[in-house]
Amino acid sequence: MATIQQLFLPVQPKSEDNSNKVTVVGAGQVGMAAVFAMLTQGVTNNIALIDVNEDKLRGELMDLQHGSAFLKSAKIQASADPVITAGSKICVVTAGVRQREGETRLNLVQRNTDVLKMIIPTLVQYSPDVIFIIASNPVDILTYVTWKLSGLPKHRVIGSGTNLDSARFRYLLSEKLSVAATSCHGYIIGEHGDSSVPVWSGVNVAGVRLRDLNRKMGTDTDPEHWQELHSMVVRSAYEVIKLKGYTSWAIGLSLSQLAHAILTNANSVHAVSTYVKGEHGVEDEVFLSLPCVLGFNGVSDVIRQPLTEKEIYQLRASARIMVQVQVGIKF
Ligand code: 2OP
Repeated sequence: MATIQQLFLPVQPKSEDNSNKVTVVGAGQVGMAAVFAMLTQGVTNNIALIDVNEDKLRGELMDLQHGSAFLKSAKIQASADPVITAGSKICVVTAGVRQREGETRLNLVQRNTDVLKMIIPTLVQYSPDVIFIIASNPVDILTYVTWKLSGLPKHRVIGSGTNLDSARFRYLLSEKLSVAATSCHGYIIGEHGDSSVPVWSGVNVAGVRLRDLNRKMGTDTDPEHWQELHSMVVRSAYEVIKLKGYTSWAIGLSLSQLAHAILTNANSVHAVSTYVKGEHGVEDEVFLSLPCVLGFNGVSDVIRQPLTEKEIYQLRASARIMVQVQVGIKF
């Protein structure tokens, strides 16, 4: 009698390939937006999703698996057991509490540090070569916390940082100039959020620096009020949270871009949270965003932007805020 096994002529056992495996910690709105972006953009087809809520995990897993025929050979695992994360190349951390309406990111620090204390050492055990991309807030401080808890070298602990603020900035520039966001260039550095620093001196379209056309750009006396764009960036998350309860799509896309840069060894430049002691006169052990070159090893270089005195002053002010919060953290 014929059996289904007759379909196969066994030749060689199937192989396990973990070279592009990405763990996502947290199946909330940000974690799922990141997973969806990575799967649909072809950044990875190998995802391990972990969370403490097993029903939510199972629901998300089934929903994604039902999309398999529309994806590119996706292999998705989901479990509360971190064993599924073994051998990950990247671990994207989105776990923890998020801001409620009107709450600042810095408010969340001890609660989310406690979450990281429970998960980071285990993740490193299962994936000793992992590169962390931290998205949980306050992201700069939690990147520092992850660096401490993981014992990993600093180039392998990255915060999603102001990659998102820079993207919001470029979108707003694009609206004002009627030029595609991908053709509007500019970096926001420093703290992700409230004390972030726009580098007006570098804002350009096709290499034409807008500051050369408007010497007052970004200052209080600018008749064109470009500074308002940065205020809008700072207010962005608060506004979205007020309207829909959380932010998800833009941060998910930002995380997908960073994972892509690492997995493809792109050596592309992104504003991410990195160890900044010694740069621009920052004297403390803090993580803040600067433009970094990202590839297989995580951060290979920090780009040294020529900053104005005001920008350096603002960056150092961000660093002082980080230190003040960090000294209060209970590890
Ligand atoms: C954001 O800026 C809340 O940090 C999150 O979207």
